[in-house]
Amino acid sequence: MKNILITGGSGFIGTNFIKYAYDRYKDWHIVNLDVLTYAGNPMNHMELAKDPRYTFIHGDICDSSLLKQLFDKFKFNGVLHFAAESHVDRSISDPEIFLKTNVMGSFKLLQAGLDYVEDSGTSDFKFLHVSTDEVYGSLGAGDAAFTEKTGYDPSSPYSASKASSDHFAKAFFTTFGLPVVVTNCSNNYGPYQFPEKLIPLVILNILNKKPLPVYGKGENVRDWLYVADHCDALAEVFEKGVSGETYNIGGGEEKKNIEVVQKICDLVDEKTGAVKSSRDLITFVKDRPGHDLRYAINCDKIDHEIGFTAKHSFEQALSQTIDWYLGHMDWVRAVQTGEYKKWINKQYS
Ligand code: NAD
Ligand code: DAU
Repeated sequence: MKNILITGGSGFIGTNFIKYAYDRYKDWHIVNLDVLTYAGNPMNHMELAKDPRYTFIHGDICDSSLLKQLFDKFKFNGVLHFAAESHVDRSISDPEIFLKTNVMGSFKLLQAGLDYVEDSGTSDFKFLHVSTDEVYGSLGAGDAAFTEKTGYDPSSPYSASKASSDHFAKAFFTTFGLPVVVTNCSNNYGPYQFPEKLIPLVILNILNKKPLPVYGKGENVRDWLYVADHCDALAEVFEKGVSGETYNIGGGEEKKNIEVVQKICDLVDEKTGAVKSSRDLITFVKDRPGHDLRYAINCDKIDHEIGFTAKHSFEQALSQTIDWYLGHMDWVRAVQTGEYKKWINKQYS
């Protein structure tokens, strides 16, 4: 068995990745290290609670002594590092935790990995640092898409913190030879996404007949990547990626925010048999400060060198995502109230 450390495995992408990896890699024992912020829900993996191939550790990536204990005990063959503060708006209202988790936490994890590799002398180790396209900054309408060579130009405290952690990850390869690969992906959507992000927020506001807040004029463009495609890409990069390299991951589905919101309205209306159009709920609100206009990913490198291309179309996967939320309203209530945490904290503290 291989021991694989997944950080942030109770958040949106980490949850999807653990479910995916559990099925794909029968020889993995997955150790999920998650501190359970508002965005982490360990109930997502309740079906694995007693499974010998899964261990949940309630802990912080900033805790060096815990990291050392975990590396000593499990002698990890690999790390997939998802844990982060991930919401841009929160980074604007309260930036400090983004430095602590995304910069210091990532640094401590890299250091723990390096200490383990140096002390054990192992050559069977890989560290995949999961990052974002936001590190590249904002594109104009006609600009070429981001490549792995695009210079870093982060706009928000969130993207600045991710940019910093990417540089540390690369520096640990260049300076110490730690086998690190970095992925920079575009906006994910799909099951288990915390309803502060655009797509789940809009779905749930429609169901609750609440206004649908669109920042500015809704002209900002994002490249949407279905989370199942992202999981595929991460597994392929983890297996085949070259240490020291960066791989961009995109969905090839650039859309203006207003188009996304209108599409969700129409799909939800169709599925729920609504009589009145939910588009009437669209409300243009004050723009996000420093709001990046456009992200777009050039996927040539991952396509040619790793053999990965996203398979899901936006329209089809958006429809599946809406179905998932419609079928999981108890999950939505649980994460919105945070009630399950009292029970969970007792189990794991
Ligand atoms: P998320 O906010 O849904 O989940 C983050 C998880 O990390 C949560 O379970 C949280 O409890 C955990 N966590 C936070 N601080 C921690 C700490 N100090 N120690 C241990 N665990 C901690 O985030 P997500 O959307 O799943 O994003 C995962 C990763 O992917 C992040 O690194 C993010 O920057 C990156 N990313 C996300 C997207 C996206 O569209 N969601 C796109 C590009 C990159
Ligand atoms: O590009 C990758 C990034 O995508 C990830 O690194 C981040 O972790 C992830 O949160 C996401 O960042 P965005 O800021 O692009 O996602 P968000 O869902 O917050 O917003 C998507 C777009 O919709 C953005 O242009 C802002 C806009 N928006 C968002 C919200 C929450 C609105 O118009 N109204 C809203 O209420």
